[in-house]
Amino acid sequence: MTTLPGFVQALKHAKANTSMILITGATSGIGEATARRFAAMGQSLILIGRREDRLDALHAELSKTQGVKVHPFSLDVSQTASVQNWAKEHGALLKQVKILVNSAGLALGFKPVQDYEAKEWDTMLDINVKGLLAMTRELIPYFKENRDGHIVNLGSTAGHYAYPNGNIYCASKAAVRMLTECMRLDLNGTGIRVTEISPGMVETEFSKVRFSGDTKKADSVYAGMTPLTADDIAETIVWCTSRPRHVNVQELIIYPTDQASPTLVKRH
Ligand SMILES: NC(=O)c1ccc[n+]([C@@H]2O[C@H](COP(=O)([O-])OP(=O)(O)OC[C@H]3O[C@@H](n4cnc5c(N)ncnc54)[C@H](OP(=O)(O)O)[C@@H]3O)[C@@H](O)[C@H]2O)c1
Repeated sequence: MTTLPGFVQALKHAKANTSMILITGATSGIGEATARRFAAMGQSLILIGRREDRLDALHAELSKTQGVKVHPFSLDVSQTASVQNWAKEHGALLKQVKILVNSAGLALGFKPVQDYEAKEWDTMLDINVKGLLAMTRELIPYFKENRDGHIVNLGSTAGHYAYPNGNIYCASKAAVRMLTECMRLDLNGTGIRVTEISPGMVETEFSKVRFSGDTKKADSVYAGMTPLTADDIAETIVWCTSRPRHVNVQELIIYPTDQASPTLVKRH
């Protein structure tokens, strides 16, 4: 039987291990699954996405079912000035962050490079690359001050291997890959860890967004094969960030078993 002093000790230990985790793209898919995983571990969360109704629902659910502190913010990470202003306003909160998960991102369309409108390039590059940069830049000074912090960037196999009609999305993820490597070099010696997770096909809202809400097209992406789930990736993120502080998992590429490369998928 646990004695009262033993219980108090355990509670103190649990509190000491409570961290603040900031997740962008928390309203859906990998970001949302990661929020659920960390909440189940009792961690406090800062959740970011643009859809306020989703943030409110997740906030209510996780506070109630897991009893964790959740700070939801509707913020467009591609608006650098908004990210800067938001960070200025919430410095006391950001100072407590131990892990930043940059999951906000998207692909728009699936067509040859010459068929894209400039507005579509801008959206992908502004969110996937500049959004990740804007948020990370705000957190690094606190991580440096604390001599502790972990940056987890969602790259993609699309950043490692080109595929037809992938062009701008592939380029944006190749930029994430290179930025992640450079961050690791620039931050070496600070105690800050930097990890890139590069998944293959994960069934989330990703394809629905890519095909502008066409669910038939989106569903056909995963037809006859078993894709990864958002929780498969969330579990990996939790694993990477829970290694001892002297261990930095630099990069992980994760495919579904049915997928051998971006273009080679076994459909049964
Ligand atoms: N699914 C895959 O097959 C796959 C494979 C490799 C890599 N990835 C990468 O994994 C990450 C997560 O994707 P997912 O599969 O989870 O897709 P998802 O279900 O569509 O989730 C994307 C998330 O990003 C948020 N987001 C998009 N633009 C934003 C902006 N401007 N500001 C703030 N939040 C924004 C969305 O929320 P709001 O719409 O509410 O803003 C949503 O929460 C992305 O970086 C994606 O490129 C996905």
